[in-house]
Parts: sequence; structure tokens; C-alpha cells
Amino acid sequence: MAKILITGASGFIGGFLVEHGLSENHTIYAAVRASSNTKNLSDPKINIIHLNLADKNSLVQKWLNLRKEIGKFDYVIHNAGATKVLDKADFETINTEYTKNLVESFVTAGMIPDKFVYISSLAAYGPGNENTFDPIKISDTPNPITNYGKSKLKAEQFLFHQNKVPFLIFRPTGVYGPRDTGYYKFIKSINNHIEIYLGSTHQKLSFIFVHDLVSLIFKSLQTNNINKAYFVTDGKNYTSRQFAAITKKILNKKTVRIIFPLFFVKFAAYLSECFALLTKKPTLFTTDKYKEITRQNWACDASETIGDFNFRPRYNLQLGVKTTVEWYKKNRWL
Ligand SMILES: NC(=O)c1ccc[n+]([C@@H]2O[C@H](COP(=O)([O-])OP(=O)(O)OC[C@H]3O[C@@H](n4cnc5c(N)ncnc54)[C@H](OP(=O)(O)O)[C@@H]3O)[C@@H](O)[C@H]2O)c1
Repeated sequence: MAKILITGASGFIGGFLVEHGLSENHTIYAAVRASSNTKNLSDPKINIIHLNLADKNSLVQKWLNLRKEIGKFDYVIHNAGATKVLDKADFETINTEYTKNLVESFVTAGMIPDKFVYISSLAAYGPGNENTFDPIKISDTPNPITNYGKSKLKAEQFLFHQNKVPFLIFRPTGVYGPRDTGYYKFIKSINNHIEIYLGSTHQKLSFIFVHDLVSLIFKSLQTNNINKAYFVTDGKNYTSRQFAAITKKILNKKTVRIIFPLFFVKFAAYLSECFALLTKKPTLFTTDKYKEITRQNWACDASETIGDFNFRPRYNLQLGVKTTVEWYKKNRWL
């Protein structure tokens, strides 16, 4: 069984990474920060590690101390990342610079893992062509349109330009499942009989259910694939209307369809950003995010991932939304 460090363990995906690792009897080191909410990390088998990813020296010291005890981590899954910030520059600091700090700290401490898995994002590639609506392909040139996407791409580029730490990069599309608060808002509004669209009802989307993403990441640890980057989707592409139709059917709700014009969405994003600055509470709905959520083509071709890892997602959107809705209901989110 392997010793695995998982960063961002307190987050949505991180919590499932930890659970999956324990279910495979690995020794899990769950990295959090002092302020993290660790309510989903209560299993006594979890080794909680407090890391300050901003401070490379403190990381080196941590590894030098830990090296005496455990030798090294077999694998590191670097999943910590900022998806919402108050100051746009923080995307680069947290997503790019902290990734560098972590990788370089392992090199300095002589504690290089067999594989360093970086959780990037489809946002690092940017949206697909809106004339042809061809799915985004691995052979396309990355063209991120948000500060978030740019910071993820820079972290990827850092990994490709170093040669000391073997790595794999996964670029998930929209991840959903139990405990997710992002798609929850859309599902909740459908539950309240309101079907909201931003600009158009024909946006092309792709999805991955959190359990499938996590299974793929663990499967990848056991393979010989290294130093490559992969998209992660459930292998299908959908339209925003199909997503709504599936959700409506599962919730058994009729809805009123509201299509907000883009100028209105942009203004609302601007107001949301101002409110976040005033209250000092970061929000996902910003003018940066506006660029992403209003682009029409997030269809993606993940055939290389399916081929290289024999990846067979167990959840299509129907089953994934059904499982997610059941969890929301059981936990009184709906
Ligand atoms: N959800 C998606 O649809 C999606 C899609 C593609 C890629 N991703 C990537 O997947 C990863 C996990 O995302 P998620 O959806 O699970 O988000 P999340 O729930 O917000 O979790 C983010 C995790 O990163 C940690 N983190 C954030 N800022 C940090 C900092 N400055 N220092 C140390 N840790 C920090 C958080 O710690 P705290 O709990 O202390 O805040 C949390 O554990 C991210 O890298 C994200 O970019 C997500």
C-alpha cells in the first residue's frame, strides 16, 4: 500500500480523494491549512498535515522532519487550488507559485515522489471554437480566457519544463457530485421551478462525476504513464438544455425558463464582484468567471484519457445527477 499526500484535502474533490485512498487501504496524508474546515476528514486513519504552501522553506523543513519517519511519499496528488479569490493576482500566486513551491521543496528535501499528480482544469485550455463547435482537443493550442485558467496553464508549463519530478496532469471539465456547491445552485433553482440560462440555451458542456474523476486519478498512479496531460470528462458532450432536462426529470419538476441577456449577466457579475470586495468574501461569480460561463463551447474530446488509462466512467450525466440529487435531498440541501 502506498503513502499518498493529498493537498486541498478539505475541499470538494479533496474529500473524495481522501475517502478513495482510504478505501484502497493506502496511508493518506491529508494536507490542509490552519483555517481549513476538516469536518469531512474525521476518520482517525487520516494523517492530517498542516502545510503553508506559500513558504517553501517551511515545506522543506516539514519534509526533512517527515523523511526520518516515513522515508518519502510514494505519490503526491496536488489538488489544492484557488477557484475564487478577491484579488485576481492571487490566482497566479496560489495556483502557479504554490505548485512550484511544493515541487521544488520535494527536490530540495530529497524526497521526490514516484509520481506528482497535478489537478489542473479544462479552463487552462480555454473554450472550443464557437463556429464549428468541434470539441476541445489535446492537439489544440491552449488559450485560457480567465486569470484562473492562465494560472493553471502556467503551473502546467512549470511542470513540463522541469525534469526532476515525474508528473501527470489532469484537466477535469466541470466536476459535480455530492457536496458540490457549484452546480448545486443550478439544480436548486430547477428544484424551485426556475431554469436559468446565460445568453443562450444551446451552450455545449461536458461533465465528470466526482467519483469517476477520483477513480481515474488513483488508477493513474499504478500505470507507467508519466509527464503527460489529460482531459477528464465522462466521454460525452451535452447541451445546457439537456443538462436542465435531465435535472428536471430527476427532480420531477416543471420550470419557467429565463434567459438572461449577456449584458445583464456581465453587470450582475460586476455587482457580485463589488459585493465580494466590500464584504471581503470571495465569490465564484465575477467578471473573470463571466467570460467562462458565457462561452458556448466547452465540449471536449477525452479519448486519449480513455485510451491511455482504459478509463470507463461509471456515471453518465443521468446517473450522476440522480446520485447527486439523492445526496442533496438526504442532507436537506434540497
Ligand atoms: N470543481 C470543479 O469543477 C473543478 C474543475 C476543474 C478543476 N478543478 C480543480 O480541482 C481542485 C479542487 O477543486 P474543488 O472543486 O474541490 O475546490 P474547493 O472545494 O474550493 O477546494 C479547494 C481546496 O484547495 C485549498 N486551497 C485553496 N486555496 C488555498 C491556499 N491558498 N493554500 C492552501 N490550500 C488552498 C482549499 O483549502 P481550504 O478548505 O482551506 O479553503 C481546499 O481544500 C482545484 O485545484 C481546482 O482548480 C475543479
